[in-house]
Amino acid sequence: MVGALKGKDYISTQDWSKDELEMALELSAELKRMFKNDIPHRYLPDKTIFLMFFDKSTRTRNSFEAGITQLGGHAHFIEAATSQVAHGESAKDTGIILSSYGHGIAIRHDLVPGEGNAYMREIAKWADKPVINMQCDVDHPCQTLADLMTIREIFGKDLRGRKIAVSWAYAPSYAKPLSVPQGLIMLMPRFGLDVVLAHPPEFTLMDEVLKTAEANAREAGVKFEIVDDMDAAFEGADIVYPKSWGIEALFHKPEEALRIAEQYTDWICDERRMKLAKQEAIYMHCLPADRGNEVTDAVIDGPQSVVYQEAENRLHTAKAIMALTM
Ligand code: CP
Repeated sequence: MVGALKGKDYISTQDWSKDELEMALELSAELKRMFKNDIPHRYLPDKTIFLMFFDKSTRTRNSFEAGITQLGGHAHFIEAATSQVAHGESAKDTGIILSSYGHGIAIRHDLVPGEGNAYMREIAKWADKPVINMQCDVDHPCQTLADLMTIREIFGKDLRGRKIAVSWAYAPSYAKPLSVPQGLIMLMPRFGLDVVLAHPPEFTLMDEVLKTAEANAREAGVKFEIVDDMDAAFEGADIVYPKSWGIEALFHKPEEALRIAEQYTDWICDERRMKLAKQEAIYMHCLPADRGNEVTDAVIDGPQSVVYQEAENRLHTAKAIMALTM
């Protein structure tokens, strides 16, 4: 399996067939087993990946850095702000040059709608090594693959008839990217989940993404619906994934989006809301979470929360994506 998708970019889960994603999940599970049992798995000896960040990170950076080390390779951390990218060096030049020094380029560029995904695709056009999306404005395919892995560990592979509630939640910390809820609504229908998306009217997601999610649900024969009521979304859900995001048109004025969000401080995942979901429902969040705003401590630290398993699976899925493509 290792190297089976050598050279293939991973910019959106939409770019990979279901079989390719299944392969990534299978390899992630195998890598997890080996990691847990201290079995060496140096599948990428002497390979270099460049990790370029336009935004902050804890899980993504460290899962890739630890992951490539465990695979026998090495990562270079590049902060866009302290590289020549900040002086306007083109994606073409960056892509050609970095790909001539190593074996893969991973990028996080998630803060401005319309920019990150386009930047990655431009790098990918010129780089002759795989480009991996560590979160852009449109998708966070490393996160959603780890989420799917986690869901299948808990509920098994056959998810048909199960429902995930992807809901907006209030957070005062910052205007969070749209890419996690967007990635979830695109990916989860392909693997059999019914999806309910809930948000206040101002917090819509990108039109193209909604169309893709609808098409994926139609093709898979599952449900996709949008509501403006967090309680309604939670009713009978097997999985709840409440998190905050910003307003597409206001990412250049984030304080305005945060002001609008203040109308919706009651969009919090608390124990009352968890009772609306199924008794065995799980609580998920990509983290970092705004505790006390997006979610109460009682829920995120409670028995239904799987956030640490989810975060751990970021390591195994990141390694699988690198091992398949590099
Ligand atoms: N979930 C996630 O991508 O975490 P970081 O922002 O810490 O990388």
